[in-house]
Amino acid sequence: MKKSVLVLLASLLTVIVGCASYEPLVSMRGSDVAAQDQPPSAKDYVGKRPGTQPLVARTYAQQPPVIPHAVNNYDELTVTENQCMSCHGPDNYAKKNSPKLGDSHFIAATKEFDAARHVCVSCHVPQVDAPALVENRFVGDIK
Ligand code: HEC
Ligand code: HEC
Repeated sequence: MKKSVLVLLASLLTVIVGCASYEPLVSMRGSDVAAQDQPPSAKDYVGKRPGTQPLVARTYAQQPPVIPHAVNNYDELTVTENQCMSCHGPDNYAKKNSPKLGDSHFIAATKEFDAARHVCVSCHVPQVDAPALVENRFVGDIK
């Protein structure tokens, strides 16, 4: 009986000490944990209409070049639609005065467009002027 009273007192003490050292939770986002996330404001692309800006310098040899122009007027890429090809595709680049697709975008043996490259924006990305989310000390190897 005495022992169980001791155990009870000991646990009470633990709870009291525990409560005394309690600090309110602070979320790393700075806002209340239950508050809704604030989405960042949408930024305009740095580039404008294709044909109105220079290419962006590459930083290493195998880099997919970034897209220097805006892409907001183009439809989503679908299985059957690809507006990028209407300017960059092999039949169109010359008359559209656009850079032609890299040689690596064609199957070497047949010279046909490699369908694995259909979703251009999985490698090529348009640019906005936004601060880096984390520190980045990357240095390219193209001088
Ligand atoms: C209306 C024609 C047109 C369309 C459509 C178009 N582009 Fe372009 N693209 C250009 C032109 C012209 C340039 C040359 C730079 C400039 O003036 O913006 C270019 C530049 C680029 C470059 C840079 C190439 C390099 O060597 O640096 C990439 C990558 C690119 N476009 C990808 C795309 C992708 C991906 C799409 C589809 C989302 C697309 N483009 C749609 C005309 C077009
Ligand atoms: C799997 C990644 C990948 C995909 C998908 C892809 N590209 Fe590329 N692209 C590259 C890389 C890497 C380069 C750099 C040169 C090379 O390897 O051909 C490049 C180069 C280019 C260039 C510049 C060619 C040059 O002179 O070097 C253009 C323009 C381009 N791509 C347009 C497109 C378009 C339009 C699409 C969609 C139809 C596309 N790419 C899909 C990776 C990709």
